Amino acid sequence: RPLQDLAGLRVVVSAGPTREYLDPVRFISNPSSGKMGFAVAEAARDRGAQVTLVSGPVTLPDPHGLSTVHIGSALELRDAVLEAAQQADLVIMTAAVADYRAAQPSGEKQAKVAGEVSIQLTPNPDILAELGQHKGGRVLVGFAMETHAGVERAAAKAQRKNADFILLNYPTQEGTAFGGDDNQVTLVRPDGGHEAWPRLSKREVAERLLTEALRVHAERHPD
Ligand code: C5P
Repeated sequence: RPLQDLAGLRVVVSAGPTREYLDPVRFISNPSSGKMGFAVAEAARDRGAQVTLVSGPVTLPDPHGLSTVHIGSALELRDAVLEAAQQADLVIMTAAVADYRAAQPSGEKQAKVAGEVSIQLTPNPDILAELGQHKGGRVLVGFAMETHAGVERAAAKAQRKNADFILLNYPTQEGTAFGGDDNQVTLVRPDGGHEAWPRLSKREVAERLLTEALRVHAERHPD
């Protein structure tokens, strides 16, 4: 039985992609597998936390010993996360939230037409930034995927969203990030301070993330 260092803490984790429907049978999404977020939720559970996992559509089974809420769209994710976060001590935003949704989703299947079509998209709310605006005593952790200038961009993101730190990863590395069982991340703080972690299993990345989040929590709530 692992150290119960998260006993008494409530942890909310978001995982997986969102689906933004254009019509009843078509959607915009991304290849997020949910593995990273599920690893965080399971690690937190095993260390004694009370965990709510808010997950987009993934093929992973619901983990035992925690509460899983299933959502489809970014707007549904937002409602579920903001609700669960009210009682939370740590919020880990691992979900790959779609940045846009259809401005006018159609209730009926759109027929094929000759030639080009365009779709009007409207931005989704930034859930992590909203949490950051009403942070309370919570610890907020984000993820970011960048193809270039990763540390600077991730630090700017952490600052803008009022997150305590962001785990930066890259979409291109073999066996990591989307769908893989390993991840290679760099922890980035709002002030630009950062440390690159070695390639690790997603479970081990989750364990280190939680240790760091607990450290921030203890700093903010000295007994
Ligand atoms: O800005 P970007 O999407 O790169 O930020 C990534 C982080 O912000 C992730 O933690 C993601 O879960 C979160 N996010 C969010 N709501 C959005 C977009 C991203 O909470 N609409």
